[in-house]
Amino acid sequence: MHKYQSGFGNEFATEALPGALPEGRNSPQRCPYGLYAEQLSGTSFTALRADNRRSWLYRIRPSAMHTPFERIDAGRIVSDFGAVPAPPNQLRWNPLPPPKVPTDFIQGIVTMAGNGDPHAQSGAAAHLYIANRSMTRRVFYNADGEMLIVPQQGRQRFVTELGVIEAEPQDIVVIPRGVRFRVELLDDLARGYICENYGANFRLPDLGPIGSNGLANPRDFLTPVAAYEDIDGPHELVAKFMGQLWSAQMTHSPIDVVAWHGNYAPYKYDLRRFNAIGSISYDHPDPSIFLVLHSASDTPGVSSIDFVIFPPRVLAMQDTFRPPWFHRNIASEFMGLVHGAYDAKAEGFSPGGASLHNSMTGHGPDAETFEKASHADLSKPDVIRDTMAFMFETRCVLRPTRHALESAELQDDYYRCWQGLQKHFDPNKP
Ligand SMILES: [Fe+2]
Repeated sequence: MHKYQSGFGNEFATEALPGALPEGRNSPQRCPYGLYAEQLSGTSFTALRADNRRSWLYRIRPSAMHTPFERIDAGRIVSDFGAVPAPPNQLRWNPLPPPKVPTDFIQGIVTMAGNGDPHAQSGAAAHLYIANRSMTRRVFYNADGEMLIVPQQGRQRFVTELGVIEAEPQDIVVIPRGVRFRVELLDDLARGYICENYGANFRLPDLGPIGSNGLANPRDFLTPVAAYEDIDGPHELVAKFMGQLWSAQMTHSPIDVVAWHGNYAPYKYDLRRFNAIGSISYDHPDPSIFLVLHSASDTPGVSSIDFVIFPPRVLAMQDTFRPPWFHRNIASEFMGLVHGAYDAKAEGFSPGGASLHNSMTGHGPDAETFEKASHADLSKPDVIRDTMAFMFETRCVLRPTRHALESAELQDDYYRCWQGLQKHFDPNKP
């Protein structure tokens, strides 16, 4: 079992060898065990203290030791979202099929939609991934954005510079911008979703009148303790930089950090720990009540990205249509389903699948769900079990990629799920 430290954005301190962390200063003249000191900054040096993120790494060799990068095929990864016109249609996709050839985590990433631009440090991309082999002697980092990874199938091990995270479906893993890692499969297949965040680092929302507890509690966020490997031998270092993939060679494993301290580090969170809050009288709060993490924009109160979940919960509201209602938002919504069924759709939205409802595109429960919920017995609560849906909700329109729009997984008939809604209006029957 790998060990973790609990808390969100804490100043952690961890060493894999006793005494490896220098005391009293960050960069002593000589570090213990002959290690090199290296700072990894995840925010501007002068960012407000509450937002400031950096860690000090004590490693066997500095991260600068590699050959020059050369550009390699980025596969199905896209970071330029202007290539194809974005349709205002409701879009939905079936899950990605297993790959027919050996495919690792990086090779298995498929960009579905995005907005903004890594160059401007603004916006986000929604990706799917599917892999059938572990990365070996191949390590990746993303200079363009932080990666919020939502495993949907198969257990996965994230071997990072700052320690090892093991995750299973219904966990999320966040790898900060720049942190080097490889993904190992603990089962035959690994499938999931990625929100690549080009903007401000994800953080927990303020809770306002909710108070000091609730939603995602800080103690449930787990950051790994230091763990290193001392391996001499060829390694490939793959970087995502300005939307392209680049490859360099190293003579050793870059997973060689023996000790570190700081508040810029990967973490995981078990979505089943989320404390869901909702109405106990009538109506629904807006879905922001299910906010796990968000990336703030430059406008106070407006997120660049919200990561929202729809977990198991109890619906007991009276004289209320209990499933999510019909709506159009300025926000754009990329949804995925990790597990079970989503309560606004009778069928067609499978675990591993995805949907995209962009800004001002009408959507909501399908005809079958509407009819059922309109006649449901409200004297008893609805206990929604065995489900875990989520949403990457963005301020700007998520522009689908060419691959997403031409994909065999795109459901051409998705719009039909609303065509069966009946006209109930009768001016003579109030
Ligand atoms: Fe929606």
